[in-house]
Amino acid sequence: MNQPALDMRDITVRFGGILALNQVSLSLRPGSVHALIGPNGAGKTTLVSVLSGERRPDGGSVVMNGRNIDGLNALRRARLGLTRTYQLTALFPRMTVRENLLLSLVACDRPGLGIADFFRWRDFDRHATEVDDFLERFALRDKAAVHPALLSHGDRRRLEIAMALASGPKILLLDEPLAGLSLADAEALVKMIETTIKGRIPILLIEHDMDAVFYLSDEITVMVNGTVLASGSPAMIKASAEVQAAYLSEEDDF
Ligand SMILES: Nc1ncnc2c1ncn2[C@@H]1O[C@H](COP(=O)(O)OP(=O)(O)O)[C@@H](O)[C@H]1O
Ligand SMILES: [Mg+2]
Repeated sequence: MNQPALDMRDITVRFGGILALNQVSLSLRPGSVHALIGPNGAGKTTLVSVLSGERRPDGGSVVMNGRNIDGLNALRRARLGLTRTYQLTALFPRMTVRENLLLSLVACDRPGLGIADFFRWRDFDRHATEVDDFLERFALRDKAAVHPALLSHGDRRRLEIAMALASGPKILLLDEPLAGLSLADAEALVKMIETTIKGRIPILLIEHDMDAVFYLSDEITVMVNGTVLASGSPAMIKASAEVQAAYLSEEDDF
């Protein structure tokens, strides 16, 4: 019953002579926030692109909620609810914030819907309250009529995450959601992730901000040079001498 939301087994990826991932195994428990940390070049983003279906691994397999998804391309994985946020970056520049959110909600109801159908489809009222709720929760209410290009960095990042959430994901893959944000925007986003997503939808969180990682995570995996160095509770990771030596001691903010 308590099967992992995502079970990655022995994932290997080579780029020419570089072994970007060397038999990486990691299990994302249902409802948990699982952080993936490690220095640049450790293979974190490569692992996310394997999960999202953008990169076919040279070895290993991925099981999502009990189903082997190795044969599925990125679109089919996205339709299963394996959602990587950056894909939504300013997808629809001519639509307002509100319309962008609406599109995610409508697409959630009708997975086969194309963009042309969306513009023909007028029955938006049904989602009006839900959109307002998303705008409120992600502090975007006063930006509802704005186009994405005019948003601040923080607003845009919150819209991306709100859209990902509105599309009805089963699993969220967040690759450095706090990167480039001001301290205030980062703190606000951490709170929003905590109150609106944590515990409901499992998250694989790649993040360099160690305060955020230790605040949000139920479990942490440390990667170095394409391999898993350690995996465990935040307390275990914090206490691990091996992790300290290899990674955490280099972090300014730890
Ligand atoms: N498309 C690519 N082509 C060649 N090498 C790549 C490519 N993507 C990543 N790499 C290499 O794979 C390793 C892991 O990179 P990456 O997954 O981006 O690490 P991280 O996200 O942990 O910083 C690095 O050595 C990187 O240079
Ligand atoms: Mg990366």
